[in-house]
Amino acid sequence: MAETKKSVEFVREMFLELSEDYIQHGATISDLRAVAIPANVKDHNSATQRAYLKKVLLVLLVPLLYGIFNRQFNIIKSFQGTRCLLPNNYLVWEFTRPIANCDYCRDVESPLTLPNLTKEEFRAYSYSSRPMIIKSAAHDWPARTKFTLQFFRDLYERTKGAYESVEEECQFLGFKSNFANLREVLAMSERRALHREGEDPWYIGWKNCHPQILDAMRQFYSVPHFLPDDAEIPYSNYIFLGYEEGAVMHLDYISRLMWQAQVIGSKTWTVAPTPECHSECKSFKFSVDATDVVLLDTRIWYHSTRVENDGLSLTVTSEYG
Ligand SMILES: [Fe+2]
Repeated sequence: MAETKKSVEFVREMFLELSEDYIQHGATISDLRAVAIPANVKDHNSATQRAYLKKVLLVLLVPLLYGIFNRQFNIIKSFQGTRCLLPNNYLVWEFTRPIANCDYCRDVESPLTLPNLTKEEFRAYSYSSRPMIIKSAAHDWPARTKFTLQFFRDLYERTKGAYESVEEECQFLGFKSNFANLREVLAMSERRALHREGEDPWYIGWKNCHPQILDAMRQFYSVPHFLPDDAEIPYSNYIFLGYEEGAVMHLDYISRLMWQAQVIGSKTWTVAPTPECHSECKSFKFSVDATDVVLLDTRIWYHSTRVENDGLSLTVTSEYG
């Protein structure tokens, strides 16, 4: 049994490593429910679990070896080329993550909505996995008018190594848009950027981890002021930007809790418990308006978003914990 555990850990590690940009390929909740946690596995019968584990390992072995082979021989020139592996990869992660204790979602049917508050007032809610909205917390951010496509175009064009940092160290998420990278996004026509009639809608996200890019952005936003002083907050962020359909239903593979400031526009979030908690917990939706900050443990709450009112949505996201 120890060997089996080691194998599972190995598979898990390999696929997590390969899942750098899984979000844009996130499976739907119904797909995951159908394949990730069969009902007969939840009974904690060890024979059933062992048989299930073997089946999972078998199903995963082929794509795993394919991924290793391709890496080894440099056939995949970039991670974009591994897309065909990612849906399996995402499912491996779903298969092998620990089964959630449903305490986190039991009796939760809406986010806790709080007025803009101080660090002191927020202390009682710190590090909670309960979905929360802090109203108007970003009301004084200059980013509300500064963060435009033109701002990011100028910033990325003038910063040496900026585009490369997204490709090599950070992450680009194209979701259902037909953009392969940030350079293509920032080069789109004005008509498409403005979501004019007849143009395809777009919604993308990318991670900023280039120090100069982050320094420039930080002049126009701050880490939410109510977060505790002792919280670890990485010096990186994500921008999510676009129209209409946002992120598909997924969990995030991150180390900490997530905060997301709605800088421009409004968005509807749909959150759902992990499949093993569906009989005890409920899915629900909530709206977030410009200047609100959402706090969500996106590692255990499935989530998807949709931009409202046919307008543009821009958010700044990072982690704390
Ligand atoms: Fe997410």
